[in-house]
Amino acid sequence: MACLLAGLCLLFQPFRLALAAEAGERAAGEGRGGDRREGESQRGWELLLTRAYLPADFDQEVFDALWTTWEEPLRSRAEGAPVEERRRMAMERYGLSPHPDDPSRSLQYAVGEDGRWTMSCLACHQGQVEGRTIPGLPNSNYALETLTEEVRSVKVRLRKPFGHMDMGSLLLPLGTTDGTTNAVMFGVALMRHRDKELNVVSRPPRFDLAHHDMDAPAWWHYSKRRFLYADAFAPTGHRMLMQFLLVKENGPERFAEWEEDFVAIETWLKQLQPPKFPGAIDAALAARGRPLFLSHCATCHGTYGSEPGEPADYPERIVAIDEIGTDRARFDSLAAQERLDLNDSWFAGDATARAAADLAGRETPVGYVAPPLDGIWASAPYLHNGSVPTLWHLLHPAARPVVWKRSPTGYDRVKMGLEVEEMPAMPAGKLLPSQRRRHFDTRRPGKSAAGHDFPDALTEDEKTAVLEYLKTL
Ligand code: HEC
Ligand code: HEC
Repeated sequence: MACLLAGLCLLFQPFRLALAAEAGERAAGEGRGGDRREGESQRGWELLLTRAYLPADFDQEVFDALWTTWEEPLRSRAEGAPVEERRRMAMERYGLSPHPDDPSRSLQYAVGEDGRWTMSCLACHQGQVEGRTIPGLPNSNYALETLTEEVRSVKVRLRKPFGHMDMGSLLLPLGTTDGTTNAVMFGVALMRHRDKELNVVSRPPRFDLAHHDMDAPAWWHYSKRRFLYADAFAPTGHRMLMQFLLVKENGPERFAEWEEDFVAIETWLKQLQPPKFPGAIDAALAARGRPLFLSHCATCHGTYGSEPGEPADYPERIVAIDEIGTDRARFDSLAAQERLDLNDSWFAGDATARAAADLAGRETPVGYVAPPLDGIWASAPYLHNGSVPTLWHLLHPAARPVVWKRSPTGYDRVKMGLEVEEMPAMPAGKLLPSQRRRHFDTRRPGKSAAGHDFPDALTEDEKTAVLEYLKTL
């Protein structure tokens, strides 16, 4: 048992059990090795929930005053509401989920005994679907830029010092659409100031970075991947998971000190299971979809053992950028040298691990990797930039909306994905930045919903059958 603080152990006990049940049966019959892995994995989850690896972003007083920056009529509603209700409203606005054991805290931030909130991996990597928290589900509601702007304006008023996010966001955009972030370019900007061993080196900042927003991938695929990210260039491994900690406050010694934590966090990631679709499935229709999937999709996306005798096989296939035809901002944003620097650094493991990982040539990827599709019903929106709101739209390239706006938490069980309002263009008239970010405008750079036209080889009936089959994965 490895709780950092005895009190937190108790606090997280019921929630841990609930999530363990969600993640399904595992480690059963594995004996002692299984028990040890189970313990390590629980420790990983507790670390994600409780440990602050970065300087704090804001304190409780700032969080509780955020409503004062809101537009009307929301502001007046918050003003008249009890503090618990105001906190709930704040979480909804910024795409945070209340902690099941203490709804005044959010799952996505580690909150210390001193009431200070620190962004964790879960900010982008733990979301909800239909109000359910599924372990490893990306957070498709996270409004990082809006939260940071409003935190900054409260801090100015309360005369509190700025933190690293408040400053960083003045230099680079955090995310221009809610639910997606410029996380890849944060990494590039931070890695520029490190050598191979992660010593801080002083270099002038770059102003030519190709900022673009990405949809975080589902973590339950981690165990199937040998290489990470949309262009599959970086080897998996616990050190690679630590890039997000590259703020200047964390020198090489902190990375060495925290390495063991990330062994546990990686153990937790590896045991995650894709969630089963909770709705009804038309078995006969899905059975008609299966051979179509095998003939039209499986060469890239693999097979899922959905019938006795069918293997579960994931080819991790990379498709050339011109063939896939999806938005190329992510592909173009990293120079070969930047990929090489990462794969040559401490993050890619020691020399033996790097040699074993077969990294030669990975610095010049040809396109995007076809992700595994298990649990795909849950991880809307789709494509690496999150530009396609539902599986139905993914299967109907010509019908994808130009602009879409999701309902706060609605799930569309017919089209399978986010419940959205579709628009031919951005609404006329001036929108506040927080309102603009609730719209996904596919005409903006890095946000195209084009490409992946493979489903067009299917008839309408066949698409309906494949959609049904996708529910079974
Ligand atoms: C600000 C949002 C954000 C935070 C915080 C964040 N990530 Fe991510 N993460 C992303 C995005 C976006 C991607 C996709 C990057 C890509 O494919 O190029 C990603 C990709 C990943 C992947 C690769 C998954 C795959 O299948 O390719 C892993 C693993 C991962 N993150 C782990 C972590 C861990 C561990 C932390 C905390 C130490 C963390 N992330 C913090 C946004 C975030
Ligand atoms: C030639 C290879 C190839 C074929 C064939 C193919 N796909 Fe894909 N698929 C990809 C790639 C590559 C991506 C990632 C593209 C991106 O994110 O820009 C992808 C993405 C997807 C996604 C979104 C995944 C996510 O997590 O966002 C879904 C769903 C999907 N494909 C379903 C299908 C279905 C269904 C078929 C068959 C009708 C199919 N694909 C055929 C290569 C392929």
